[in-house]
Amino acid sequence: MKDSIQLQANQVALHGTLKVPGDKSISHRSIMFGAMAKGKTTVDGFLLGDDCLSTISCFQKLGVDIVVDGHEVTITSDGMESWKEPDEILDTGNSGTTTRLMLGILAGSNIHSVLVGDESIAKRPMKRVIEPLRQMGAKISGRSGGQFTPLAVQGTDLKAIDYTMPVASAQVKSAILLAGLQANGVTKVREKEVSRDHTERMLRQFGATVNCQDGVIQLQGGQKLSATHVEVPGDISSAAFFLVAAAIAKDSSIRLEKVGLNPTRTGIIDVLKNMGAQIEIEVEPDTEDKEPIGSVSIKTSELHGIEIGGELIPRLIDEIPIIALLATQANGTTVIKDAEELKVKETDRITAVVEELKKLGADIVATDDGMIINGPVTLTGGVLKSYGDHRIGMMGAIASVISTGPIEIEQASCISVSYPNFFEHLRNVSTSETLR
Ligand code: S3P
Repeated sequence: MKDSIQLQANQVALHGTLKVPGDKSISHRSIMFGAMAKGKTTVDGFLLGDDCLSTISCFQKLGVDIVVDGHEVTITSDGMESWKEPDEILDTGNSGTTTRLMLGILAGSNIHSVLVGDESIAKRPMKRVIEPLRQMGAKISGRSGGQFTPLAVQGTDLKAIDYTMPVASAQVKSAILLAGLQANGVTKVREKEVSRDHTERMLRQFGATVNCQDGVIQLQGGQKLSATHVEVPGDISSAAFFLVAAAIAKDSSIRLEKVGLNPTRTGIIDVLKNMGAQIEIEVEPDTEDKEPIGSVSIKTSELHGIEIGGELIPRLIDEIPIIALLATQANGTTVIKDAEELKVKETDRITAVVEELKKLGADIVATDDGMIINGPVTLTGGVLKSYGDHRIGMMGAIASVISTGPIEIEQASCISVSYPNFFEHLRNVSTSETLR
């Protein structure tokens, strides 16, 4: 079967209200923490994307009882001590979050396990997690001295660590905190730049005490989690595609409801505002440590280029492909810098974004730590590669709302990693008869 999708040049207005699927980061953590906790955890709004399904399958292989009923998931566990040693490998698919967070969890367990993912995972750096975990006493081995999957973990006793993060990474931070939860002593993680804080918030929801002050996150080892209910908000990283679509398409307006508005994730909203977009946010009243949610409405906008770098980068790291497309429609130059991390995502996203947008006629060049984009440019049609990367695939698909010719996306099925009903939503907001 040819895994590609054809999108007609679709130069029409986009209108409507959408509820984007559940947040990927929170969905993963709901399963992981639910499996670690004693009791019955219920999850509402779970993302049925391939990545989160990989997490479910790993924990089922550890003997955890997980029942999926639509977007509702129930996890029943007697805590980590009740997990069984898996007689098969744990397949983490395309998911960096599953692979890295599970290393932190399994390091302090009492079982042996082997983690393997797909071709993309096999290229992604694991040393950044394994190094601090080994300092805690973890017994992890892997290809090239523990740099890449397959990785074998022999659970053992751990000791706390005081660790200063060399890169802003929520996955690394979370792996250390989850190992720290099982270690002797107080684990401290020091962040120079704040990365997404779902682990800290959700551990509290599961009954743990986690202190965060002046960039230092601290937790006492030996704390046990207790089951709870998790409401998963819409994923702002998925919403970003439709926010950009409405901002660049003519005569458009889109409203996105129940979107997660955690300040460590809302860099895309700051960028849209700074570029001059007509955007309105309505935040629902805060409930303690729970994730903030609200609705975001956006209209076709006159945009101008800006500089994007520094502390903003971790707050929008997954949105850079779609921001690059946005910048092709802004007046002037947009510079994206301090974003070297893009090179080690599902694919090298600096190369992928620049190569694919160039095929549509964009004025874009790659730099060592980002890209420079001049706009506005009328984009043509073309045949684009997704590189098996969901966010590159969706960037190409959104380009079709303004392109002068049809766009074909190769390897489009990867979009189900984070947004299984993406094309249905694109059709829903499109007033075009030709969009397929
Ligand atoms: C994630 C953290 C980020 C992000 C990824 C999800 C998480 O990765 O890019 O999509 O759920 O913790 P890094 O921690 O590598 O920055």
